[in-house]
Amino acid sequence: MAEKRKFQAIKGTRDLLPPETELWNRVEQTARQVFGTFGFGEIRLPIFEPTELFARSIGLDTDVVSKEMYSFEDRDETSVSLRPEATASVCRSFIEHGMHALPQPVKLYYTGPMFRRERPQKGRYRQFYQIGAEVLEALQPGLQDSAKNTGKDAAVDAEVIEMVMAFFAKIELDGVQLEINSIGCRECRPKYIELLRARLLEEKDKLGLDSQYRIDNNPLRVLDSKLESEQEIIATLPHINEHLCETCAKQYAEVKRQLAVREVSYKENWRLVRGLDYYMRTTFEITARGLGSQNAVCGGGRYDGLVEILGGMPTKGIGFAIGEDRLILSLEAAGKGHVAKGCDVYIAWMGEKAQDTAIHVARTLRQAGFRVELPPVEQKFGKALGQADRIGARHALILGDEEIASGKWTVKTLADSSQQKLTEAELAEFLRKHHGSPLRSADT
Ligand code: HAM
Repeated sequence: MAEKRKFQAIKGTRDLLPPETELWNRVEQTARQVFGTFGFGEIRLPIFEPTELFARSIGLDTDVVSKEMYSFEDRDETSVSLRPEATASVCRSFIEHGMHALPQPVKLYYTGPMFRRERPQKGRYRQFYQIGAEVLEALQPGLQDSAKNTGKDAAVDAEVIEMVMAFFAKIELDGVQLEINSIGCRECRPKYIELLRARLLEEKDKLGLDSQYRIDNNPLRVLDSKLESEQEIIATLPHINEHLCETCAKQYAEVKRQLAVREVSYKENWRLVRGLDYYMRTTFEITARGLGSQNAVCGGGRYDGLVEILGGMPTKGIGFAIGEDRLILSLEAAGKGHVAKGCDVYIAWMGEKAQDTAIHVARTLRQAGFRVELPPVEQKFGKALGQADRIGARHALILGDEEIASGKWTVKTLADSSQQKLTEAELAEFLRKHHGSPLRSADT
């Protein structure tokens, strides 16, 4: 006999089940609604892409590309990878569909699963979900990245940050903290990196192995280190914002000014360098309460030049991605994960005639947007009311011989056990009064 195998979700992946999925839907709907008010349209992207796309965009030396991608050889021997993030895909799509010819900038948002083979823990999964947005703007030929444009870029950066903060406010996320930084551009960053490298070399012996390795290939990432023994040394390192070129410094100052105008509070964090290679100038991260060590619910920044690296024309870009799993965890920790449970009306029917009426009423009420539970077999009223209570129904509609004969139906409100006799026409009116608009999920 074949051995019975008990299958389980693969480590780092999980099933999302009702009623929690209601909360996920509410979060996504709110994002769509808020992003819509800022003029963003939805893009739906493939789950897998050529490995090369991520390697070129995110960078070969990053943790994401060097250690965490799910890559495999397709049957035609090309290497493909499950997407670890979506910015690279948005840029690929921008080029592929000639979006530079559309009115600029192009504002897109996405939601969906991403895959990184990290060590799973609370708030960190191998399949996780992001809600992200990107603003791309192809540069008109001949228009260089001049100092004159920094005001415009800063306004776009500040608006993108304002949008994500507006979304967090709308879903009432607790303890939201925004940190910002500027990591310079191709002009000023290499000079800063040399300075940083020289300083790190002086301290090399006191650094951990990871940081020692990074001195050569990515010294900026040393600033990200959480290693206790390195903190004192890091505190003595030169700050990038003291080494920004004039354009970057101007732009950073303008981002801060515009955030203040938009009443967005922020903290500057000179160590915020982000783990993906495509960033330049503005970077930001947002943390929320109730998450422990994995408390970043959003990360983003500017990535001018990425489209060009991928074979497109010179294009500016800025965007962010929210970790939806963490967002949900934080809402739940704050007791804000409550979702309307159960149903509006449980129909307790007895007798063949009553079943026909029950089927008809269930259809009418569902068409009006109410959540209706219609048991497939008749139950004694006592048992039916017990079941209505267990599934969290707000009302029980009792249909027996007497109700059918008189045309007056009994409606019981479970919370206070009050009862009324109502005609079919009065029933809809009564429910509407008690439940407000029945299509409640669409208005949240
Ligand atoms: P990221 O910082 O790698 O940026 O990820 C963004 C957010 O995704 C993180 O702040 C976190 O909330 C969530 N996240 C990342 N890894 C995991 C995981 N293993 N489990 C659960 N949540 C996770 C990006 O992905 C960039 N593409 C953001 C961006 C868009 N930059 C510009 N445009």
